[in-house]
Amino acid sequence: MATLFSCPPFVYSAPMPEFPAPVVRQAAPADLDALVHLEQASFPGDHLSRRQYRHHLGSASARILVAECGTQDLAGALVLLFRRGTRVARVYSLATAAAMRGRGIASHLLTVAETVAREHGCRALRLEVRSDNAAAIALYRRAGYRPIGTRANYYEDGADAWRFEKSLQPAIARATGK
Ligand SMILES: CC(C)(COP(=O)(O)OP(=O)(O)OC[C@H]1O[C@@H](n2cnc3c(N)ncnc32)[C@H](O)[C@@H]1OP(=O)(O)O)[C@@H](O)C(=O)NCCC(=O)NCCS
Repeated sequence: MATLFSCPPFVYSAPMPEFPAPVVRQAAPADLDALVHLEQASFPGDHLSRRQYRHHLGSASARILVAECGTQDLAGALVLLFRRGTRVARVYSLATAAAMRGRGIASHLLTVAETVAREHGCRALRLEVRSDNAAAIALYRRAGYRPIGTRANYYEDGADAWRFEKSLQPAIARATGK
């Protein structure tokens, strides 16, 4: 049975006249086809495979969050990974369906992922993004992620990755080291 998402469903409050407010929930095995479809439609290469999605859906060290807007298709999805021995979680994939972009869905998925990671005891979130993905870089900067380095030749086609991190600890805890 899929792990239940410990946060209550998150309702995005910005106005989206033609769609109901998006709700973020934890993905279930029944979402597998839609997740693979969104992945294939969103990235030109470096796809997460069906097998990887199936694995992550059943793994205690992964959370897949999906956003729905009352249509049959998923509006967006985010894959969050945890690793034993570290309090740094990783946003492994994030995509919004093309028709639903520019409505705050990715920002909302990121916010929920940060809550889930905090609840999991994590102190920071990290991610990699293609150095030429201006939309995603703007999204992460706007959400408070800071560049921490690069990984050369990271993607299948040789593109470099920029690494970003966001602290999940309140400023006061960072200042006092607690
Ligand atoms: C990148 C992506 C996830 C953004 O999703 P989204 O739901 O449209 O993003 P949001 O509506 O939450 O945008 C939040 C902020 O991100 C930035 N942003 C998003 N799309 C942008 C674009 N096309 N150009 C510039 N900035 C953009 C803006 O700062 C935006 O804030 P604003 O609307 O107040 O200006 C989406 O374009 C996508 O799925 N792309 C293909 C897959 C991908 O590249 N994923 C990222 C992998 S690291």
